[in-house]
Amino acid sequence: MVKLTPPMGWNSWNTFGENINEELIFETADAMVSTGLLEKGYEYLVIDDCWSLKERDGNQRLVPDPVKFPHGMKAVADYVHSKGLKFGMYSCAGNLTCAGYPGSFEHEFTDARTFAEWGVDFLKYDYCYHSPIIHGQYLYRRMGLALENCGRDILFSACSWGADQTQEWIKTSAASMWRSTGDIFDTWESVKDLVKQQEKLHPYNGVGCFNDMDMLIVGMYGKGNVGLKGCSDTQYKTHFSIWALLGSPLMIGCDIRSINEETKAILGNEELIRINQDSACRQPVKLQGIWAGDDMVLYARQLENGDMAIGLFNMSEEKAAARFNLDEVGLGFSTGKTLEMTEVWSGETFKVTNATVSRELEAFDCQVFRAKVVDL
Ligand code: GLA
Repeated sequence: MVKLTPPMGWNSWNTFGENINEELIFETADAMVSTGLLEKGYEYLVIDDCWSLKERDGNQRLVPDPVKFPHGMKAVADYVHSKGLKFGMYSCAGNLTCAGYPGSFEHEFTDARTFAEWGVDFLKYDYCYHSPIIHGQYLYRRMGLALENCGRDILFSACSWGADQTQEWIKTSAASMWRSTGDIFDTWESVKDLVKQQEKLHPYNGVGCFNDMDMLIVGMYGKGNVGLKGCSDTQYKTHFSIWALLGSPLMIGCDIRSINEETKAILGNEELIRINQDSACRQPVKLQGIWAGDDMVLYARQLENGDMAIGLFNMSEEKAAARFNLDEVGLGFSTGKTLEMTEVWSGETFKVTNATVSRELEAFDCQVFRAKVVDL
């Protein structure tokens, strides 16, 4: 299945790990509607690892854990669909999933058919315990083929970051997104690390197959499946802004049943979602900036209607200035054009009257602009 803009939704892993069950999924489905997140575009509800028994049945089919999912997966899918959401599940290209449950290796076609029968719309496919002989590209191609032939539209989410040079071959499978970084954790250091890991991979992002920087940690506040310190709201805001601007899928990872207003406002920023979902899906460009150290990260992306999205991200714990020259986004004064910039968090609007744009940023904070090209 081809998905033309970055997928959006919720995934159970970051907060719940193996502690998943039917009740949690039903309540989360309800919350996706009542919080307004579905309306904002978060449409996939995905159950990650640890949903099955450790053994397949006599027909070699995967079996949902009857304690966690007493009514089976079709019932879960039906409930999720009844809320207007789409339903996602998880498996792995290896013999086992990363948490040690049965993987789909040598069962790809059976499993794809099973998922289709259950009403699955999205499959996250991991790369733990994989064959040491068969190259990852063949395993992803195989599951991609199985899904394309299972009789149902199932979005293929390749969690293939451990595979060799995934970016070079992932589009030869039917994947709509691929994990371009390692796992995220609920710390600011992790966010910084993933942003860095992503730097050279932008040319591979684009319509139909998106670089997945991993699920969002916004709103977790250290309550994840591994005890970590969490981040501040400012850090979550900056993390979300980067994922959105760079065109990553936006998969929520916090417990949305108890979401607070700050988290809702971050995840629900409509202007950023519009930038993320821009139909052109152009490659972002990293701006060099003026006197920008490693901790001042600047990105721009041309949008479908001719506007430019520009993000200034202060990754450091000190207030700092972000500066870039208009030439870097393609506009010198000789063009007779400049930018009218509107900041997506504050709504502030101003015209650039100088070749250099200079903004003050608080510690860990960001400013993201939708900039219109206007006459000088
Ligand atoms: C890997 C993936 C995670 C999660 C776990 C589940 O680490 O990268 O996103 O799916 O496996 O075991």
